[in-house]
Parts: sequence; C-alpha cells; structure tokens
Amino acid sequence: MSELKGKRALVTGASSGIGAAIAKELADRGAHLVLSARRKAALDDTAAKCGGAEVVTADLGAPGAAQSVWNAATANGPIDILINNAGFGYFRPFGSIEAARDAELVQLNITSLVELSRMFADHRRGRTERAYLVNIASIGAYQSVPNMALYAASKVFVRNFTEGLHDEWRGTQLSATCICPGGTKTAFHEMAGAGNYSWIANKSMMTADEVAAISVRAMLAGKRNVIPGFMNKLSCWGVRLVPRWFASWMSRRVLGKPRPGELPSRTNTGSAA
Ligand SMILES: NC(=O)c1ccc[n+]([C@@H]2O[C@H](COP(=O)([O-])OP(=O)(O)OC[C@H]3O[C@@H](n4cnc5c(N)ncnc54)[C@H](OP(=O)(O)O)[C@@H]3O)[C@@H](O)[C@H]2O)c1
Repeated sequence: MSELKGKRALVTGASSGIGAAIAKELADRGAHLVLSARRKAALDDTAAKCGGAEVVTADLGAPGAAQSVWNAATANGPIDILINNAGFGYFRPFGSIEAARDAELVQLNITSLVELSRMFADHRRGRTERAYLVNIASIGAYQSVPNMALYAASKVFVRNFTEGLHDEWRGTQLSATCICPGGTKTAFHEMAGAGNYSWIANKSMMTADEVAAISVRAMLAGKRNVIPGFMNKLSCWGVRLVPRWFASWMSRRVLGKPRPGELPSRTNTGSAA
C-alpha cells in the first residue's frame, strides 16, 4: 500500500503502545514519519521497525514543549497528518499523589494536544491538499471514572474538542477524527497503577495493532469519532440508557481496585515499554 506516499506524519507518544503501532500502520502505507516521545532508545526502535523516521525527543508534559516539537517536525517539510496520541493516566484517588502529576496530565493530555492541533490548523491554512488530525481519547470520555477522575475528564475534553473540529472543518480539506479506545494491551496500565480488572475488562482488551489499524482506516475515511471493538461500542452506547451515577458506579466495578504500591516514576524515561 502506498496511498500515503509523499505525506509527512507527526505521531506523538510513538515510543510504545498505540502510538508505535499507528506509526507502523502509517509507514506501511508509505508515509514519512516524525516520531516524538521522551525515550530516545524506544523511539529509535519504533523508527527502525518503520523502515526509518525522524525522531524528536521531548517532554510534552512540560509547558512550551509542543512548540519545540512542532518546529522540529516541520523543519524538513510540511506535516500532512498529526496524530496526538501521547497521554497517561493514574489509577488512584484524586489528591492521593503529588499535585505535579496532575499538572503534567493536564499539560500532556489537554494543553499540548490543543497547542499542536492549533499549529497544525494554522500550518494547513491556504493549502489545498487533504490533511488529517487524529486525537486519541478513550472510552473514559463516555462517563466519569472514580479513581481515574482527572484522566477520564481529560478524555472528555479530547472527545468534545475533536468532534467540534470535525464539524467546523466539514467541507474543507482538513479532517479531524477522534478515536476512543477501550482497554488496550500496552504499558499504560502498569504506568497507571491499574490492572486488577474484572473479567469483562480483561475480555474486551484489544491489541495496540488492532486499535492502530482501526484508527488509520477511520482517519482515511474522514470519520468523526470511532470506538474500536464491539464490547467497547456496546458499553458506550449502553451508558446513554442509564443514569450518570450508575454508569460511574459500573466503571468502578469493571476497573476494580488500584494496584497496591507506589506508582512508577514519571521522570524515569530509561526503560522501553
Ligand atoms: N491502553 C489503554 O487501555 C488505553 C485506552 C484508552 C486510551 N488510551 C490512550 O492511548 C494513548 C496511548 O497510550 P498507550 O496505551 O499506548 O500507552 P503507552 O504504551 O504507555 O504509551 C504512551 C505514550 O505516550 C508517551 N508519553 C507519556 N508521557 C509523555 C510526555 N510527558 N511527553 C511526551 N510523550 C509522553 C510515551 O512515551 P515516553 O514514555 O517515551 O515519553 C508513550 O509513547 C494515550 O493517550 C492513552 O490515554 C489508552
């Protein structure tokens, strides 16, 4: 497949999980990649699997980093595809861990995503070729999630923001697609101190490759919002039929209790997922 030959794609959070898998999907379709995350060795590994890529190491959880990533990504040519995938959550009661982690979550999951989306929109203005924005939200965007309250709220933002852009950009050369994955087998859960899930959560887990394939197909089809997986679609549809407190209570049952012990450090960027 070479439908994306000649296109340049920036993928954030490409050092592991869904981002690395999306990078591979885009490379398989002929796109030239610019990959970003904090871990250089893991990014180089993704780049090698993609047959080569430009690599930009940056901490998008820090103010100002989005502009540096964007400057580096556009230094060698325009960006036609932006995949805002980098994100993290923690599975702990709000207020039980350091406030700096909350600030990083908001900066990474929301602020840097908005800043990159804005730079992408400005950059594409006046160009006539089709260009794609993909923002990775979560099925957590469909109800509040106790013990993951801030993370789920950040994904509500990503979903509403992206759907709004999709509707604003209808009929233009720009396309915005929101992806709402459910549980996906990546390092996310260990990093979040989660994983003592109910059978239903474990049963509906998908692989990063499955989510990535669905995401890239949705992007190319110009979809507004896609929830990968039948069970995930069912749960997001089902919450419309019940009171919001009940949906929140259900999410607590499905996700189980936080894993005991300290959360992994957010600053240790040495090990690959
Ligand atoms: N896995 C799931 O069940 C699931 C479900 C719904 C939605 N999602 C969403 O999917 C996206 C990808 O997560 P994943 O499951 O693939 O988890 P993952 O394997 O932990 O990947 C997270 C990616 O984000 C990058 N990242 C984290 N903090 C960063 C920072 N401060 N600056 C720059 N990059 C940073 C990580 O790279 P470095 O560590 O190298 O910086 C990594 O490449 C996230 O937005 C997540 O919220 C995941």
